[in-house]
Formats: sequence, structure tokens, C-alpha cells
Amino acid sequence: MQRTFAIIKPDAVAAGHQGGILAALQESGLRLVAIKSLRLSTAQAEGFYAVHSARPFFRSLVTFMTEGPVVAMVLEGEDAIARWRNLMGPTDATKAPKETLRGRFGTSIERNATHGSDAPETAAYEIGFFFSGLELAGL
Ligand code: TYD
Repeated sequence: MQRTFAIIKPDAVAAGHQGGILAALQESGLRLVAIKSLRLSTAQAEGFYAVHSARPFFRSLVTFMTEGPVVAMVLEGEDAIARWRNLMGPTDATKAPKETLRGRFGTSIERNATHGSDAPETAAYEIGFFFSGLELAGL
């Protein structure tokens, strides 16, 4: 069993795509361990994407991620990290296959509807960044 961290990004929340994304998640067989809606502050978005702080797209990405509420989730299942990333599709939504979440709900490389951890270490860090032990306890 593996856990991963996922976000429904501000573009998808604003467009009302939470339901479609949660339906695809349920269909995939991954288990929803924890979920909450929140709006990121600039400092929180900078912290979450700190690994990209030197990249040219960083400021724009932080502005995008703080423009409205997001839905943060912890998902669990066999091979959860790879399965959620396969469901999302590639980073650039304009190149993502139409059946993927980014292909269906994203509109650009930046406004790509969803996030998913890329490795077990990042998943552990990101889950801890957004959820307390209490919120994950007993599930
Ligand atoms: P990255 O970790 O490379 O992609 P992924 O989300 O697929 O793991 O990049 C993190 C986010 O940064 C990505 O979801 C969207 C944004 N981004 C841009 O805005 N422009 C870019 O050129 C890249 C590579 C990423």
C-alpha cells in the first residue's frame, strides 16, 4: 500500500470540475484517505513549490496557485503515486491525452487542473505539509 498527495488546482475548482475529478478518482479504485478545501497564501505556495524556486515559471505558478481555493487530498492504494500520475496525464495539458484529467480539465502547462506527488519522499513531505497526524489518524 502506498499513499500519495493530490491537489485539485484553482483553475479546476473555479470551473466546477471537482465532481468530475472525484468521480474519476473513485473509478480508479484509489482510496480517499483525507480531503479538505483551502486557499493557499503566497508563502504556503512558495513553500510547496520551493523545489522550482529558481525556474522561470515560479512566480507565475505561485500567483496561479493562490488565485482561489484548492482541494487537497491524500490517496491510498497499490502503486498510488504512479496510478494517480497516469490518471492526471503529462504536465502540459495541451499535450495531455483527452481521457486524462489534465487533458479533460486543464488548459495549459501551468493551468493543468491537478497535482500529484512524483515519488515516495515527495509524497511524504507533501502529505505532511498539508495534513496533520490527527487528520490522517485511524484512516
Ligand atoms: P513539474 O513538477 O515539472 O510537473 P508535474 O506537476 O507534472 O509534476 O512542475 C510543477 C508545476 O509547475 C506544473 O504542474 C505546472 C508548473 N509548470 C509551469 O507552469 N511551466 C513549466 O514549464 C513547467 C515545467 C511546470
